[in-house]
Amino acid sequence: MNAVVFYSNTGQSKAIATYFANQLGYSLTDMETKCAEHYQNLVLVFPVHCQNIPDAVRAFLKKVSVDNLTAVATYGKMCCGNVLYEIQKDYQKNIVAGAYIPTKHSYIDGDDGFCAFDRLKPVMEKIKHPSYIQLPKLYKKPLADIFPNLRSRLGLTIQKNENCSGCNLCGERCSYGAIKTGETNRKCIRCIRCVNACPRQALKIRLSLPLKLYLRKKKANQVIIYI
Ligand SMILES: Cc1cc2nc3c(=O)[nH]c(=O)nc-3n(C[C@H](O)[C@H](O)[C@H](O)COP(=O)(O)O)c2cc1C
Repeated sequence: MNAVVFYSNTGQSKAIATYFANQLGYSLTDMETKCAEHYQNLVLVFPVHCQNIPDAVRAFLKKVSVDNLTAVATYGKMCCGNVLYEIQKDYQKNIVAGAYIPTKHSYIDGDDGFCAFDRLKPVMEKIKHPSYIQLPKLYKKPLADIFPNLRSRLGLTIQKNENCSGCNLCGERCSYGAIKTGETNRKCIRCIRCVNACPRQALKIRLSLPLKLYLRKKKANQVIIYI
């Protein structure tokens, strides 16, 4: 089976995954629907979270077997961490290509999404003519592995306003069981899928000052490709 599987909270990784699926003629699957257990060729697209692999992606990688994996990480122009190397080290050796793609940051309004799709053509070619590669270890900030989910939770709050009708669509869309009718609990990692899912715009994010200052830093806008 050949497929593009994506994990996406605010649509950036989904847009890249859709491009890959259209170009390659592969099926497109949301990781949170029912996925196969074995793939001949798999393109996996997901966001970097606090310089790490999101837990949902780790859980997927644990249960799936793949002959030829292409791993694509989207990141919000801050720091992409070392997630592709970690995938190869911890889960899948059979990697034919990899890419880090800078996109709109989930927490920054008006930021630009990725549109340089031509840059991905060499990756498509490599997928069509696969051979295995060794991914290099990139720089990862020293604090990156210290309670990433907790750091993320402390960085911002999700606030419910009077538009909330109590429909609990936020709860249904949450992968972590972390919100019910607009009230988050301690499982929340601030992926803000719920904020985007709400049809009444009843959920707003409020960034802490340290996170606001961090997000103002000079942006890394680099597409990195391994083939
Ligand atoms: C919880 C969380 C943590 C994030 N951590 C990082 C990070 O460490 N470095 C970075 O450049 N972008 C980071 N981002 C931004 C996302 O990686 C980026 O916006 C991504 O493209 C979002 O993909 P999606 O729309 O498919 O969910 C983070 C976003 C969230 C929600």
